[in-house]
Amino acid sequence: MDIGVFIPIGNNGWLISKNSPQFKPTFDLNKEIVMKAEKYDMDFALSMIKLRGFGGETEFWDYNLESFTLMAGLAAVTSKIQLYATAATLVLPPAIMARMATTIDSISNGRFGVNLVTGWQRPEYSQMGMWPGDEFFGNRYEYLDEYIKVVKELWETGKSDFKGEHFQMDDCRMLPKPQRKIPLICAGQSAAGMDFSARHADYNFCFGKGVNTPTAFAPTAARLTEAAEKHGRSVGSAVLVMVIADETDEAAMAKWESYKEGKDQSALDWMATQGAADKKSGKDTNIRDMTNPTSAVNLNMGTLVGSYESVASMLDEIATVPGCEGVLLTFDDFLKGMDDFGTKIQPLMKSRQHLLNTSGAA
Ligand SMILES: Cc1cc2nc3c(=O)[nH]c(=O)nc-3n(C[C@H](O)[C@H](O)[C@H](O)COP(=O)(O)O)c2cc1C
Repeated sequence: MDIGVFIPIGNNGWLISKNSPQFKPTFDLNKEIVMKAEKYDMDFALSMIKLRGFGGETEFWDYNLESFTLMAGLAAVTSKIQLYATAATLVLPPAIMARMATTIDSISNGRFGVNLVTGWQRPEYSQMGMWPGDEFFGNRYEYLDEYIKVVKELWETGKSDFKGEHFQMDDCRMLPKPQRKIPLICAGQSAAGMDFSARHADYNFCFGKGVNTPTAFAPTAARLTEAAEKHGRSVGSAVLVMVIADETDEAAMAKWESYKEGKDQSALDWMATQGAADKKSGKDTNIRDMTNPTSAVNLNMGTLVGSYESVASMLDEIATVPGCEGVLLTFDDFLKGMDDFGTKIQPLMKSRQHLLNTSGAA
């Protein structure tokens, strides 16, 4: 099972709370995190794109760097980790995105991949006059389908004459071609999103579910396997979870309780309202179903709370879920969390024992 880190490109990471570490995103912070990820033999780092925050007392995600330019910088200062940027496909024309990705492929010497998102929060795009109208909620993966066809043509052949509903190329040219087939990831949870991933992605992210229920995402992973089989492909799932660890289960749980107690209600309300605006995609995703108050404070991502031993064993459980090929980690406290993961959690993981022989990291 591959392990990646979802780097904090936005302020405060993934906790919408007044009681969690408060920080602003910088290149230096993200560089330190990715250097640690390399040191501990993590496989990949991903940054999201978020163009409008949720506000509230914590100004949640009101501060966000841009994903491709951040990953370009990180590509220049790393040497072995795989790096993924997220393409805001509504505002990045495919020929521009294809060229940006080719550039980072060159900077990283073949370590770069792209996370494709349609966008789910209208104000991110309407604020700059780039929202196509609410019908987009219903046809966003058709749009993405055309988008990626153009991108693939450019990467593979250096030109595109694609003519579709959303994109019309006119002998469009893009050289040099990337040095390797650029991996594509996606995080479709809706039926349309999963079908897109089944056809185009190398793997698909899904949200973990619940607190200390590491295998609860198994039905989502199974839905993806089924969708991919329909297209004669095999696409693995990578699950997003937050790690909150400490010396004992009790100490870790006390931190989680405190984060929940400090929830930034006004930012949470914003998120719930935005998520609910999409009436077209079904409720298969955490983003549109914020009715579960247990862990809305970390966007309802799966949460592993416990001692280093407990977290290691829950991560090993994740590795047993059929179709699961990766886990994407966030932490309550990123710098400490990365060190705790590298020195205290990973060495206890059965699913990472192969690293023991290849480096001193695990
Ligand atoms: C790991 C992960 C990363 C994501 N990154 C972004 C992102 O950077 N920007 C964004 O607008 N949405 C992001 N999303 C949301 C997804 O692209 C997707 O819209 C969401 O999972 C709902 O699935 P659906 O689009 O099939 O309804 C992410 C989701 C996950 C699980």
